[in-house]
Amino acid sequence: MTLVEEINKRRTFGIVSHPDAGKTTLTEKLLLFGGAIQVAGAVKSNKIKKSATSDFMDIERQRGISVATSVMGFLYRDKQINILDTPGHKDFQEDTYRTLTAVDSAIVVIDVAKGVEPQTEKLVEVCKMRETPMIVFINKLDREGKDGFDLLDEVEQKINLKACPLSWPIGMGQRFKGVYNIYEKKLVLFNPHGKQEDIIEFTNLDDPELINHIGESAAEELREEVNMIQEIYPAFDKEAYLNGELNPVFFGSAINNFGVKELLDCFVEIAPKPLARQTEERIIQPDENKLSGFVFKIHANMDPKHRDRIAFLRVCSGEFKRNTNYLHVRNNKKMKFSNPTTFMASKKEIVESAFPGDIVGLYDSGNFKIGDALTEGEKVTFKGIPSFSPEMFRIVHNADPMKSKQLAKGLSQLMDEGVAQMFTKEFGGTIIIGTVGALQFDVIQYRLEHEYSAKCTYEPLHLHKACWLTSENDTEFKEFTQRRKRDLAKDKDGNLVFLAESAWQLKTMQETYPKVGFHFTSDF
Ligand code: G4P
Repeated sequence: MTLVEEINKRRTFGIVSHPDAGKTTLTEKLLLFGGAIQVAGAVKSNKIKKSATSDFMDIERQRGISVATSVMGFLYRDKQINILDTPGHKDFQEDTYRTLTAVDSAIVVIDVAKGVEPQTEKLVEVCKMRETPMIVFINKLDREGKDGFDLLDEVEQKINLKACPLSWPIGMGQRFKGVYNIYEKKLVLFNPHGKQEDIIEFTNLDDPELINHIGESAAEELREEVNMIQEIYPAFDKEAYLNGELNPVFFGSAINNFGVKELLDCFVEIAPKPLARQTEERIIQPDENKLSGFVFKIHANMDPKHRDRIAFLRVCSGEFKRNTNYLHVRNNKKMKFSNPTTFMASKKEIVESAFPGDIVGLYDSGNFKIGDALTEGEKVTFKGIPSFSPEMFRIVHNADPMKSKQLAKGLSQLMDEGVAQMFTKEFGGTIIIGTVGALQFDVIQYRLEHEYSAKCTYEPLHLHKACWLTSENDTEFKEFTQRRKRDLAKDKDGNLVFLAESAWQLKTMQETYPKVGFHFTSDF
Protein backbone atom coordinates (compact mmCIF):
# COMPACT_ATOMS: atom_id res chain seq x y z
CA MET A 1 0.00 0.00 0.00
CA THR A 2 1.29 3.50 -0.74
CA LEU A 3 1.73 6.12 1.97
CA VAL A 4 -1.31 8.02 0.68
CA GLU A 5 -3.43 4.85 0.79
CA GLU A 6 -2.28 4.17 4.35
CA ILE A 7 -3.22 7.73 5.33
CA ASN A 8 -6.62 7.63 3.63
CA LYS A 9 -7.41 4.47 5.52
CA ARG A 10 -6.89 5.89 9.01
CA ARG A 11 -9.32 7.63 11.36
CA THR A 12 -7.86 8.66 14.72
CA PHE A 13 -10.24 10.09 17.28
CA GLY A 14 -11.03 10.45 20.96
CA ILE A 15 -14.27 10.11 22.91
CA VAL A 16 -14.88 12.79 25.51
CA SER A 17 -17.55 13.08 28.16
CA HIS A 18 -18.29 13.94 31.73
CA PRO A 19 -17.72 10.82 33.86
CA ASP A 20 -20.64 8.40 33.72
CA ALA A 21 -22.16 9.68 30.49
CA GLY A 22 -21.23 6.37 28.86
CA LYS A 23 -17.82 6.85 27.22
CA THR A 24 -16.50 3.45 28.30
CA THR A 25 -19.68 1.68 27.25
CA LEU A 26 -19.67 3.36 23.85
CA THR A 27 -15.96 2.59 23.34
CA GLU A 28 -16.66 -1.01 24.11
CA LYS A 29 -19.55 -1.26 21.67
CA LEU A 30 -17.43 0.29 18.94
CA LEU A 31 -14.68 -2.23 19.63
CA LEU A 32 -17.19 -5.07 19.51
CA PHE A 33 -18.33 -3.88 16.08
CA GLY A 34 -14.77 -3.85 14.88
CA GLY A 35 -14.06 -7.28 16.33
CA ALA A 36 -11.22 -5.85 18.44
CA ILE A 37 -12.72 -7.43 21.52
CA GLN A 38 -15.01 -10.43 21.71
CA VAL A 39 -16.82 -9.86 24.95
CA ALA A 40 -18.29 -6.86 26.67
CA GLY A 41 -16.43 -5.87 29.81
CA ALA A 42 -12.90 -5.95 28.40
CA VAL A 43 -12.53 -2.19 28.44
CA LYS A 44 -14.71 -1.63 31.45
CA SER A 45 -12.37 -3.60 33.70
CA ASN A 46 -9.60 -1.14 32.82
CA LYS A 47 -11.61 1.85 33.82
CA ILE A 48 -10.40 3.88 36.77
CA LYS A 49 -13.09 3.24 39.31
CA LYS A 50 -14.77 6.04 41.15
CA SER A 51 -14.73 4.15 44.42
CA ALA A 52 -10.94 4.30 44.47
CA THR A 53 -10.72 8.08 44.75
CA SER A 54 -9.36 7.97 48.27
CA ASP A 55 -6.58 5.54 47.46
CA PHE A 56 -4.19 7.02 44.96
CA MET A 57 -2.01 3.90 44.76
CA ASP A 58 -5.00 1.97 43.59
CA ILE A 59 -5.70 4.64 41.03
CA GLU A 60 -2.08 4.64 39.87
CA ARG A 61 -2.25 0.88 39.54
CA GLN A 62 -5.45 1.12 37.56
CA ARG A 63 -3.94 3.86 35.47
CA GLY A 64 -1.07 1.48 34.78
CA ILE A 65 -3.51 -1.12 33.55
CA SER A 66 -5.18 1.50 31.43
CA VAL A 67 -1.93 1.93 29.45
CA ALA A 68 -3.15 -1.18 27.71
CA THR A 69 -6.08 0.77 26.36
CA SER A 70 -4.17 3.91 25.43
CA VAL A 71 -4.99 3.25 21.82
CA MET A 72 -7.72 0.96 20.71
CA GLY A 73 -7.56 0.07 17.08
CA PHE A 74 -9.79 -1.93 14.79
CA LEU A 75 -10.72 -2.30 11.17
CA TYR A 76 -14.21 -1.32 10.12
CA ARG A 77 -15.38 -1.09 6.52
CA ASP A 78 -11.74 -0.99 5.33
CA LYS A 79 -10.85 1.84 7.67
CA GLN A 80 -8.24 1.55 10.39
CA ILE A 81 -9.93 3.20 13.34
CA ASN A 82 -7.73 4.36 16.23
CA ILE A 83 -9.58 5.38 19.38
CA LEU A 84 -7.32 7.24 21.78
CA ASP A 85 -8.40 6.63 25.34
CA THR A 86 -8.98 9.72 27.41
CA PRO A 87 -9.10 9.15 31.16
CA GLY A 88 -12.49 10.06 32.53
CA HIS A 89 -11.21 10.61 36.06
CA LYS A 90 -11.20 14.31 36.85
CA ASP A 91 -7.76 14.26 38.43
CA PHE A 92 -6.27 13.11 35.14
CA GLN A 93 -7.92 15.74 33.01
CA GLU A 94 -4.57 17.12 31.86
CA ASP A 95 -3.82 13.72 30.30
CA THR A 96 -7.07 14.04 28.43
CA TYR A 97 -6.30 17.55 27.21
CA ARG A 98 -2.98 16.39 25.85
CA THR A 99 -4.42 13.29 24.25
CA LEU A 100 -6.84 15.54 22.38
CA THR A 101 -3.86 17.18 20.66
CA ALA A 102 -3.15 13.83 19.02
CA VAL A 103 -6.60 13.15 17.54
CA ASP A 104 -8.10 14.29 14.26
CA SER A 105 -11.68 14.34 15.48
CA ALA A 106 -13.77 13.65 18.57
CA ILE A 107 -17.09 12.18 19.66
CA VAL A 108 -18.75 13.97 22.57
CA VAL A 109 -21.01 11.77 24.71
CA ILE A 110 -23.82 13.46 26.63
CA ASP A 111 -26.18 11.83 29.11
CA VAL A 112 -29.78 12.50 28.03
CA ALA A 113 -30.89 13.13 31.62
CA LYS A 114 -27.96 15.28 32.71
CA GLY A 115 -27.34 17.23 29.55
CA VAL A 116 -24.11 19.17 29.14
CA GLU A 117 -22.03 18.77 32.32
CA PRO A 118 -18.98 20.74 33.51
CA GLN A 119 -16.31 18.35 32.28
CA THR A 120 -17.98 18.17 28.88
CA GLU A 121 -17.73 21.94 28.70
CA LYS A 122 -14.01 21.95 29.43
CA LEU A 123 -13.17 19.15 27.05
CA VAL A 124 -15.18 20.62 24.20
CA GLU A 125 -13.43 23.92 24.78
CA VAL A 126 -10.07 22.18 24.36
CA CYS A 127 -11.26 20.55 21.12
CA LYS A 128 -12.49 23.91 19.87
CA MET A 129 -9.10 25.49 20.42
CA ARG A 130 -7.82 23.27 17.65
CA GLU A 131 -11.02 23.35 15.57
CA THR A 132 -11.35 19.60 15.99
CA PRO A 133 -14.40 18.24 14.15
CA MET A 134 -16.84 16.88 16.73
CA ILE A 135 -19.85 14.57 16.54
CA VAL A 136 -22.26 14.55 19.50
CA PHE A 137 -23.81 11.31 20.77
CA ILE A 138 -26.71 11.74 23.19
CA ASN A 139 -26.80 8.59 25.27
CA LYS A 140 -29.16 6.62 27.54
CA LEU A 141 -32.36 7.21 25.56
CA ASP A 142 -33.73 4.08 27.24
CA ARG A 143 -34.11 6.33 30.31
CA GLU A 144 -36.24 9.38 30.87
CA GLY A 145 -34.32 12.52 30.14
CA LYS A 146 -34.47 16.03 28.81
CA ASP A 147 -36.43 16.98 25.74
CA GLY A 148 -34.45 16.61 22.50
CA PHE A 149 -34.84 20.26 21.51
CA ASP A 150 -33.80 21.43 24.99
CA LEU A 151 -30.68 19.30 24.70
CA LEU A 152 -29.83 20.79 21.33
CA ASP A 153 -30.25 24.25 22.88
CA GLU A 154 -27.81 23.26 25.63
CA VAL A 155 -25.34 21.96 23.07
CA GLU A 156 -25.54 25.27 21.23
CA GLN A 157 -25.57 27.59 24.23
CA LYS A 158 -23.40 25.90 26.82
CA ILE A 159 -20.70 24.49 24.58
CA ASN A 160 -21.16 26.65 21.54
CA LEU A 161 -21.50 23.87 19.02
CA LYS A 162 -23.57 24.21 15.88
CA ALA A 163 -25.97 21.30 16.21
CA CYS A 164 -27.04 19.37 13.14
CA PRO A 165 -29.26 16.45 14.22
CA LEU A 166 -28.65 13.45 11.97
CA SER A 167 -30.91 11.20 13.98
CA TRP A 168 -33.94 11.94 16.11
CA PRO A 169 -35.39 9.95 19.03
CA ILE A 170 -38.89 8.55 18.96
CA GLY A 171 -39.91 8.91 22.60
CA MET A 172 -37.61 8.04 25.46
CA GLY A 173 -37.45 5.92 28.61
CA GLN A 174 -40.41 3.53 28.77
CA ARG A 175 -41.82 5.08 25.59
CA PHE A 176 -38.57 4.85 23.63
CA LYS A 177 -39.33 3.31 20.27
CA GLY A 178 -36.15 4.03 18.38
CA VAL A 179 -34.68 6.76 16.26
CA TYR A 180 -35.29 8.14 12.83
CA ASN A 181 -31.97 8.26 11.02
CA ILE A 182 -32.27 11.57 9.19
CA TYR A 183 -28.90 11.09 7.51
CA GLU A 184 -29.78 7.80 5.86
CA LYS A 185 -33.57 8.21 5.96
CA LYS A 186 -34.13 5.02 7.89
CA LEU A 187 -36.36 4.10 10.76
CA VAL A 188 -34.34 2.24 13.39
CA LEU A 189 -36.58 0.50 15.88
CA PHE A 190 -35.45 -0.24 19.40
CA ASN A 191 -35.68 -3.72 20.81
CA PRO A 192 -35.19 -3.52 24.57
CA HIS A 193 -34.44 -7.22 24.83
CA GLY A 194 -31.09 -6.84 23.17
CA LYS A 195 -32.04 -8.43 19.87
CA GLN A 196 -30.96 -6.85 16.61
CA GLU A 197 -32.58 -3.52 15.97
CA ASP A 198 -35.08 -3.37 13.10
CA ILE A 199 -33.96 -1.05 10.36
CA ILE A 200 -36.56 0.06 7.84
CA GLU A 201 -35.85 2.29 4.86
CA PHE A 202 -38.22 5.20 5.24
CA THR A 203 -37.63 8.12 2.95
CA ASN A 204 -40.98 9.83 3.37
CA LEU A 205 -42.27 10.29 6.91
CA ASP A 206 -45.69 11.30 5.54
CA ASP A 207 -46.19 7.74 4.37
CA PRO A 208 -49.20 6.38 6.38
CA GLU A 209 -47.21 3.15 6.83
CA LEU A 210 -45.29 4.92 9.63
CA ILE A 211 -48.22 4.38 12.02
CA ASN A 212 -47.90 0.61 11.64
CA HIS A 213 -44.37 0.76 12.96
CA ILE A 214 -44.55 3.24 15.82
CA GLY A 215 -48.22 3.96 16.45
CA GLU A 216 -50.32 6.98 15.68
CA SER A 217 -49.29 9.48 18.31
CA ALA A 218 -45.56 8.76 18.00
CA ALA A 219 -45.85 9.03 14.21
CA GLU A 220 -47.51 12.40 14.45
CA GLU A 221 -44.95 13.67 16.94
CA LEU A 222 -42.04 12.42 14.84
CA ARG A 223 -43.34 14.08 11.67
CA GLU A 224 -43.82 17.36 13.48
CA GLU A 225 -40.40 17.25 15.15
CA VAL A 226 -38.48 16.26 12.03
CA ASN A 227 -40.21 19.12 10.19
CA MET A 228 -39.12 21.48 12.93
CA ILE A 229 -35.55 20.19 12.72
CA GLN A 230 -35.48 20.83 9.02
CA GLU A 231 -36.72 24.37 9.59
CA ILE A 232 -34.48 25.27 12.53
CA TYR A 233 -31.22 23.43 11.96
CA PRO A 234 -28.82 23.62 9.03
CA ALA A 235 -28.65 20.77 6.56
CA PHE A 236 -25.61 18.57 6.92
CA ASP A 237 -22.54 19.91 5.18
CA LYS A 238 -19.41 17.77 5.36
CA GLU A 239 -17.03 20.66 4.72
CA ALA A 240 -18.53 22.67 7.58
CA TYR A 241 -18.17 19.65 9.89
CA LEU A 242 -14.56 19.13 8.84
CA ASN A 243 -13.83 22.80 9.52
CA GLY A 244 -15.24 22.42 13.02
CA GLU A 245 -18.22 24.65 12.18
CA LEU A 246 -21.03 22.10 12.25
CA ASN A 247 -21.64 19.24 14.66
CA PRO A 248 -23.74 16.22 13.74
CA VAL A 249 -25.86 14.95 16.64
CA PHE A 250 -26.92 11.32 17.11
CA PHE A 251 -29.22 9.81 19.73
CA GLY A 252 -28.99 6.29 21.12
CA SER A 253 -28.34 3.98 23.99
CA ALA A 254 -24.80 2.65 24.19
CA ILE A 255 -25.54 -0.04 26.73
CA ASN A 256 -28.23 -1.46 24.48
CA ASN A 257 -25.97 -1.08 21.48
CA PHE A 258 -28.64 1.08 19.97
CA GLY A 259 -27.77 3.88 17.58
CA VAL A 260 -24.09 2.95 17.85
CA LYS A 261 -23.87 1.40 14.40
CA GLU A 262 -25.51 4.48 12.85
CA LEU A 263 -22.94 6.62 14.60
CA LEU A 264 -20.04 4.45 13.46
CA ASP A 265 -21.29 4.18 9.87
CA CYS A 266 -21.63 7.92 9.62
CA PHE A 267 -18.29 8.43 11.38
CA VAL A 268 -16.29 6.32 8.92
CA GLU A 269 -17.90 8.18 6.09
CA ILE A 270 -17.39 11.74 7.29
CA ALA A 271 -14.60 11.81 9.89
CA PRO A 272 -11.32 13.32 8.75
CA LYS A 273 -8.30 11.25 7.77
CA PRO A 274 -5.01 12.21 9.47
CA LEU A 275 -4.67 15.96 9.20
CA ALA A 276 -1.76 18.28 8.58
CA ARG A 277 -0.01 19.55 11.73
CA GLN A 278 1.15 23.02 12.52
CA THR A 279 4.71 23.49 13.71
CA GLU A 280 6.35 26.79 14.59
CA GLU A 281 8.34 26.56 11.38
CA ARG A 282 5.78 25.31 8.85
CA ILE A 283 2.76 23.09 8.27
CA ILE A 284 3.59 19.41 7.95
CA GLN A 285 1.42 17.42 5.56
CA PRO A 286 0.82 13.78 6.40
CA ASP A 287 1.82 12.58 2.94
CA GLU A 288 5.33 13.99 3.16
CA ASN A 289 7.79 11.13 2.79
CA LYS A 290 9.88 11.91 5.83
CA LEU A 291 8.80 10.87 9.28
CA SER A 292 7.67 13.40 11.83
CA GLY A 293 5.78 12.93 15.04
CA PHE A 294 5.33 14.34 18.53
CA VAL A 295 5.07 12.96 22.03
CA PHE A 296 1.71 13.74 23.63
CA LYS A 297 1.73 11.48 26.63
CA ILE A 298 4.33 9.88 28.84
CA HIS A 299 3.52 7.07 31.15
CA ALA A 300 5.79 5.88 33.91
CA ASN A 301 6.27 2.17 34.00
CA MET A 302 4.72 0.48 36.94
CA ASP A 303 7.92 -1.15 38.11
CA PRO A 304 9.47 1.27 40.62
CA LYS A 305 12.90 -0.41 40.31
CA HIS A 306 13.18 0.80 36.73
CA ARG A 307 12.65 4.35 35.77
CA ASP A 308 11.47 3.28 32.34
CA ARG A 309 8.72 5.22 30.80
CA ILE A 310 6.61 4.88 27.73
CA ALA A 311 6.40 7.93 25.50
CA PHE A 312 3.42 7.93 23.15
CA LEU A 313 4.26 9.31 19.74
CA ARG A 314 1.64 10.47 17.27
CA VAL A 315 2.98 9.88 13.78
CA CYS A 316 2.25 13.01 11.70
CA SER A 317 4.00 12.36 8.40
CA GLY A 318 5.97 9.68 6.59
CA GLU A 319 6.52 6.18 7.88
CA PHE A 320 7.87 5.28 11.29
CA LYS A 321 10.19 2.26 11.13
CA ARG A 322 11.59 0.09 13.87
CA ASN A 323 15.38 0.19 14.42
CA THR A 324 15.81 3.34 12.35
CA ASN A 325 17.68 6.43 13.44
CA TYR A 326 15.53 9.50 14.08
CA LEU A 327 16.37 12.93 15.40
CA HIS A 328 15.11 13.85 18.85
CA VAL A 329 14.83 17.54 17.98
CA ARG A 330 15.02 19.14 21.44
CA ASN A 331 18.06 17.08 22.49
CA ASN A 332 19.59 17.23 18.99
CA LYS A 333 20.34 13.55 19.40
CA LYS A 334 19.83 10.54 17.14
CA MET A 335 17.73 7.76 18.61
CA LYS A 336 16.47 4.42 17.38
CA PHE A 337 13.87 2.17 18.86
CA SER A 338 14.21 -1.59 18.95
CA ASN A 339 10.81 -2.34 20.39
CA PRO A 340 8.25 0.32 19.47
CA THR A 341 4.92 -0.94 20.68
CA THR A 342 1.27 -0.54 19.94
CA PHE A 343 -1.10 -0.77 22.85
CA MET A 344 -4.23 -2.12 21.32
CA ALA A 345 -7.14 -3.24 23.44
CA SER A 346 -5.85 -6.15 25.50
CA LYS A 347 -2.80 -6.86 23.36
CA LYS A 348 0.62 -5.34 23.15
CA GLU A 349 2.66 -5.80 19.99
CA ILE A 350 5.98 -4.69 18.61
CA VAL A 351 5.42 -2.72 15.44
CA GLU A 352 7.70 -2.76 12.41
CA SER A 353 6.19 0.37 10.93
CA ALA A 354 3.50 2.95 11.59
CA PHE A 355 1.82 5.66 9.53
CA PRO A 356 0.29 9.10 10.05
CA GLY A 357 -2.59 8.83 12.50
CA ASP A 358 -0.97 5.89 14.31
CA ILE A 359 0.31 6.03 17.86
CA VAL A 360 3.49 4.23 18.84
CA GLY A 361 4.67 3.60 22.38
CA LEU A 362 8.43 4.19 22.75
CA TYR A 363 10.33 2.84 25.74
CA ASP A 364 12.27 5.71 27.18
CA SER A 365 14.68 6.13 30.05
CA GLY A 366 14.02 9.83 30.56
CA ASN A 367 14.83 11.44 27.22
CA PHE A 368 11.37 12.59 26.29
CA LYS A 369 9.08 15.27 27.54
CA ILE A 370 5.63 16.16 26.37
CA GLY A 371 5.65 18.00 23.07
CA ASP A 372 8.99 16.58 21.88
CA ALA A 373 9.39 16.05 18.15
CA LEU A 374 10.99 13.15 16.31
CA THR A 375 12.03 13.69 12.68
CA GLU A 376 14.45 12.49 10.03
CA GLY A 377 16.65 15.54 10.63
CA GLU A 378 14.44 18.60 10.29
CA LYS A 379 14.21 20.85 13.33
CA VAL A 380 10.58 21.48 14.04
CA THR A 381 8.56 22.38 17.11
CA PHE A 382 4.96 21.20 17.11
CA LYS A 383 2.38 23.74 18.17
CA GLY A 384 -0.84 23.21 20.03
CA ILE A 385 0.37 21.13 22.96
CA PRO A 386 -0.48 23.62 25.66
CA SER A 387 -0.24 23.56 29.42
CA PHE A 388 -3.47 24.60 31.13
CA SER A 389 -3.64 26.67 34.23
CA PRO A 390 -3.70 24.28 37.20
CA GLU A 391 -6.51 24.54 39.71
CA MET A 392 -4.69 23.61 42.91
CA PHE A 393 -1.36 24.85 44.15
CA ARG A 394 1.07 23.98 46.92
CA ILE A 395 4.54 25.14 47.91
CA VAL A 396 7.12 22.34 47.92
CA HIS A 397 9.68 22.01 50.68
CA ASN A 398 12.62 19.65 50.69
CA ALA A 399 12.19 17.32 53.66
CA ASP A 400 15.67 15.81 53.40
CA PRO A 401 18.39 18.42 52.82
CA MET A 402 20.91 15.70 51.91
CA LYS A 403 18.78 14.77 48.92
CA SER A 404 18.19 18.10 47.26
CA LYS A 405 19.73 16.94 43.96
CA GLN A 406 17.47 13.89 43.87
CA LEU A 407 14.47 16.09 44.64
CA ALA A 408 15.30 18.48 41.81
CA LYS A 409 15.80 15.62 39.35
CA GLY A 410 12.66 13.82 40.44
CA LEU A 411 10.54 16.92 40.19
CA SER A 412 11.94 17.78 36.80
CA GLN A 413 11.27 14.30 35.40
CA LEU A 414 7.79 14.10 36.85
CA MET A 415 7.01 17.48 35.29
CA ASP A 416 8.34 16.24 31.92
CA GLU A 417 5.85 13.40 32.20
CA GLY A 418 3.13 15.97 32.74
CA VAL A 419 2.13 14.71 36.20
CA ALA A 420 1.78 18.34 37.31
CA GLN A 421 3.24 21.77 36.60
CA MET A 422 6.01 23.49 38.45
CA PHE A 423 6.51 27.21 38.86
CA THR A 424 9.56 28.87 40.38
CA LYS A 425 8.90 32.22 42.01
CA GLU A 426 10.94 35.08 40.60
CA PHE A 427 11.27 36.54 44.05
CA GLY A 428 12.91 34.09 46.47
CA GLY A 429 12.90 30.99 44.24
CA THR A 430 10.02 29.25 46.02
CA ILE A 431 8.90 26.15 44.14
CA ILE A 432 5.18 25.77 43.56
CA ILE A 433 3.43 22.73 42.16
CA GLY A 434 0.13 23.15 40.39
CA THR A 435 -2.25 20.30 39.57
CA VAL A 436 -5.74 19.68 38.29
CA GLY A 437 -6.61 17.19 41.03
CA ALA A 438 -5.58 16.82 44.67
CA LEU A 439 -4.55 13.25 44.01
CA GLN A 440 -1.50 14.33 42.03
CA PHE A 441 0.13 15.79 45.15
CA ASP A 442 0.09 12.35 46.78
CA VAL A 443 1.33 10.74 43.59
CA ILE A 444 4.29 13.15 43.42
CA GLN A 445 5.22 12.65 47.06
CA TYR A 446 5.01 8.89 46.74
CA ARG A 447 6.94 8.67 43.49
CA LEU A 448 9.68 11.06 44.68
CA GLU A 449 10.25 8.82 47.64
CA HIS A 450 10.08 5.48 45.85
CA GLU A 451 11.73 6.32 42.56
CA TYR A 452 14.14 9.12 43.46
CA SER A 453 14.78 8.63 47.21
CA ALA A 454 13.74 12.21 47.83
CA LYS A 455 11.27 13.54 50.34
CA CYS A 456 9.08 16.59 50.15
CA THR A 457 6.43 18.27 52.22
CA TYR A 458 3.78 20.70 51.07
CA GLU A 459 2.58 24.04 52.32
CA PRO A 460 -0.94 25.06 51.35
CA LEU A 461 -1.25 27.92 48.91
CA HIS A 462 -4.43 29.62 47.82
CA LEU A 463 -4.21 30.80 44.27
CA HIS A 464 -6.90 31.43 41.70
CA LYS A 465 -5.00 30.76 38.49
CA ALA A 466 -1.60 30.77 36.82
CA CYS A 467 -1.66 33.07 33.78
CA TRP A 468 0.93 33.07 31.04
CA LEU A 469 1.79 36.62 30.02
CA THR A 470 2.23 38.50 26.76
CA SER A 471 2.91 42.17 26.20
CA GLU A 472 1.64 44.67 23.68
CA ASN A 473 3.34 47.59 25.32
CA ASP A 474 6.78 47.43 26.94
CA THR A 475 6.28 50.31 29.38
CA GLU A 476 3.00 48.97 30.65
CA PHE A 477 4.40 45.44 30.90
CA LYS A 478 7.37 46.69 32.90
CA GLU A 479 5.15 48.62 35.23
CA PHE A 480 2.97 45.57 35.78
CA THR A 481 5.89 43.20 36.41
CA GLN A 482 7.46 45.62 38.85
CA ARG A 483 4.27 46.13 40.76
CA ARG A 484 3.46 42.40 40.93
CA LYS A 485 7.04 41.17 41.36
CA ARG A 486 6.04 38.95 44.25
CA ASP A 487 3.36 37.18 42.20
CA LEU A 488 5.55 36.32 39.23
CA ALA A 489 7.07 32.93 38.54
CA LYS A 490 8.64 31.01 35.68
CA ASP A 491 7.17 27.77 34.35
CA LYS A 492 9.42 24.81 33.58
CA ASP A 493 10.25 26.20 30.14
CA GLY A 494 11.18 29.61 31.54
CA ASN A 495 7.99 31.42 30.50
CA LEU A 496 6.79 34.19 32.77
CA VAL A 497 3.60 33.44 34.68
CA PHE A 498 1.41 35.60 36.90
CA LEU A 499 0.06 33.75 39.94
CA ALA A 500 -3.28 35.42 40.57
CA GLU A 501 -4.52 35.20 44.14
CA SER A 502 -8.17 35.70 43.33
CA ALA A 503 -10.54 36.26 40.43
CA TRP A 504 -10.98 39.79 41.69
CA GLN A 505 -7.24 40.51 41.69
CA LEU A 506 -6.90 39.12 38.19
CA LYS A 507 -9.80 41.23 36.94
CA THR A 508 -8.28 44.35 38.48
CA MET A 509 -4.93 43.64 36.79
CA GLN A 510 -6.63 43.02 33.46
CA GLU A 511 -8.44 46.35 33.77
CA THR A 512 -5.41 48.30 34.97
CA TYR A 513 -3.05 46.84 32.37
CA PRO A 514 -5.09 46.31 29.22
CA LYS A 515 -1.96 45.91 27.10
CA VAL A 516 -0.78 42.92 29.14
CA GLY A 517 -2.18 39.62 27.89
CA PHE A 518 -3.24 37.12 30.58
CA HIS A 519 -3.60 33.59 29.20
CA PHE A 520 -4.98 30.49 30.88
CA THR A 521 -3.01 28.18 28.60
CA SER A 522 0.64 28.26 27.61
CA ASP A 523 -0.23 28.07 23.92
CA PHE A 524 -1.34 31.33 22.39
P1 G4P B 1 -18.05 6.75 31.50
O1 G4P B 1 -17.02 5.89 30.87
O2 G4P B 1 -18.45 7.91 30.66
O3 G4P B 1 -17.73 7.16 32.90
O4 G4P B 1 -19.39 5.91 31.62
P2 G4P B 1 -19.68 4.35 31.56
O5 G4P B 1 -19.62 3.84 30.18
O6 G4P B 1 -18.89 3.63 32.59
O7 G4P B 1 -21.21 4.38 31.99
C1 G4P B 1 -21.64 4.88 33.22
C2 G4P B 1 -22.87 4.17 33.68
O8 G4P B 1 -23.93 4.41 32.74
C3 G4P B 1 -22.69 2.66 33.74
O9 G4P B 1 -23.51 2.21 34.81
C4 G4P B 1 -23.28 2.19 32.44
O10 G4P B 1 -23.73 0.87 32.47
C5 G4P B 1 -24.43 3.17 32.25
N1 G4P B 1 -24.82 3.33 30.84
C6 G4P B 1 -24.03 3.51 29.76
N2 G4P B 1 -24.78 3.62 28.65
C7 G4P B 1 -26.07 3.52 29.03
C8 G4P B 1 -27.33 3.55 28.33
O11 G4P B 1 -27.40 3.69 27.12
N3 G4P B 1 -28.44 3.45 29.10
C9 G4P B 1 -28.41 3.28 30.45
N4 G4P B 1 -29.56 3.16 31.08
N5 G4P B 1 -27.25 3.23 31.13
C10 G4P B 1 -26.10 3.35 30.44
P3 G4P B 1 -22.92 1.84 36.23
O12 G4P B 1 -24.06 1.40 37.04
O13 G4P B 1 -22.09 2.97 36.74
O14 G4P B 1 -21.92 0.72 35.91
P4 G4P B 1 -22.24 -0.80 35.61
O15 G4P B 1 -22.49 -1.37 36.93
O16 G4P B 1 -23.41 -0.86 34.69
O17 G4P B 1 -21.00 -1.28 34.97
